[in-house]
Amino acid sequence: MSVHHKVKRVTTNVLQEMKLRGEKISMLTGYDYSMAKIIDQAGIDVILVGDSASNVMAGHETTLPITLDQMIYHASSVVRAAQRALIVVDMPFGSYQGNSKEALSNAIRIMKESGAHAVKMEGGQEIIESVKRILTAGIPVMGHLGLTPQSIYKFGTYVVRAQEEDEAQRLIEDAKALEEAGCFAIVLEKIPAKLASKVAENLSIPIIGIGAGNGVDGQVLVVHDMLGINNEFNPRFLRKYNNLFEQMMTAFKQYKEDIVKGNFPNEKEQY
Ligand code: KIV
Repeated sequence: MSVHHKVKRVTTNVLQEMKLRGEKISMLTGYDYSMAKIIDQAGIDVILVGDSASNVMAGHETTLPITLDQMIYHASSVVRAAQRALIVVDMPFGSYQGNSKEALSNAIRIMKESGAHAVKMEGGQEIIESVKRILTAGIPVMGHLGLTPQSIYKFGTYVVRAQEEDEAQRLIEDAKALEEAGCFAIVLEKIPAKLASKVAENLSIPIIGIGAGNGVDGQVLVVHDMLGINNEFNPRFLRKYNNLFEQMMTAFKQYKEDIVKGNFPNEKEQY
């Protein structure tokens, strides 16, 4: 048996069954081979090659600058690492909003050149034509509503979305439109927990939350945030499972000190 068949892959059908059984879905972002390998072996169900790579990997202020080629590079690194997780890739800003034919050819590039299993797109009814066209090619699509960071210049702020009745109502309609179009799951970002639960109860596809409370079908976090690598990002919804900023800082300082003092390498660490 080849190594590729040893572990049973999480598929979009598996996620659907998990929702039916009331089993919560775990999802983390991943952008590179080494981190994705650990995430996968920890049993996380979905790895999202998020366009948050633009922030945490490339240091941009927003997700807008990352390109399709850069997303494909990150995604193919993750694909080489993960044997079990479903791998979903964010379609970057500008690659799907305008023209549904271009959206399809960009989604095909992601699937062909990275080997990933699905794409994620931000928006509701305004992008439905692109969503539908991509689905006709057999490419699974995950939706993303609420705080959609590619629209940050329209929102003007990263505050909680859909707190007002009209925006909440639009979000419910967008979620239904994405489900009807054939999306296999939807991410809801930074919206009131009550609204997110309502969407999860009313839709049959899995709803994955980030800053959307516990009444949804699963959770996603940006891996650098939950590991505490970035010590400047502390939103209320973020639970830090480590403080790697401090731990890495200590290790790097110790390494420098050892070099400066002539303690590294020692006799056992040389040939
Ligand atoms: O790009 C990303 O990391 C995301 C998650 C925050 C859901 O879209």
